[in-house]
Amino acid sequence: MSFEETTKIINSKESQVLISEAEIKEKVKELGKKIAEDYRGKCPILVGVLNGSFIFCADLFRAIDIDCEVDFIKISSYGDAMETSGEVKLLKDTDAHLRDRHVIVVEDIVDSGYSVEYLRKKIQATHPKSLKFVSLLIKEEGAQVPYHIDYIGFKIPNRFVVGYGLDYAQKFRNLPQVYVLNENS
Ligand code: IMP
Ligand code: MG
Repeated sequence: MSFEETTKIINSKESQVLISEAEIKEKVKELGKKIAEDYRGKCPILVGVLNGSFIFCADLFRAIDIDCEVDFIKISSYGDAMETSGEVKLLKDTDAHLRDRHVIVVEDIVDSGYSVEYLRKKIQATHPKSLKFVSLLIKEEGAQVPYHIDYIGFKIPNRFVVGYGLDYAQKFRNLPQVYVLNENS
């Protein structure tokens, strides 16, 4: 897809802003404040889930005003499709050792729940001191397995969204707000 084509899709009348830049900023500030209160003196490590959460993770990290660290893990489940395949693959593990650490996994969005449940099992096996999950977005209607998210940004309807790190076929991640993608484009 060329830049002109992606711009055309986003500007088409069926693609709408779901969450504005201002709403995202406000929410990130709120989540950062809450996490800082809960983890004061504990030096948590944020584990951003690549690629989708890299922008949210960077903003959230800067909104947490206590000692904390960051690392990344990369998994894949979708390929370039809009539906999950249910199969989660580890593409890159964290470099940091998570044993005895207070770990906070940072997700962009939870849909079926397969990814977060895969991560929970994987990270739990490293014996962290504690393990919590934060996700900017969750699509509750998409749940295929039971899961628990400790810090939730926004609950959204079961539509495909892009922007603020979220992609469709690797595009649209650089949009500053969250859009519902016009699936007929
Ligand atoms: P789950 O395993 O079905 O919960 O899917 C979680 C992952 O799928 C997220 O971390 C995203 O990378 C991707 N994903 C799910 N829904 C969307 C969406 O609406 N737009 C873009 N990516 C999505
Ligand atoms: Mg993701």
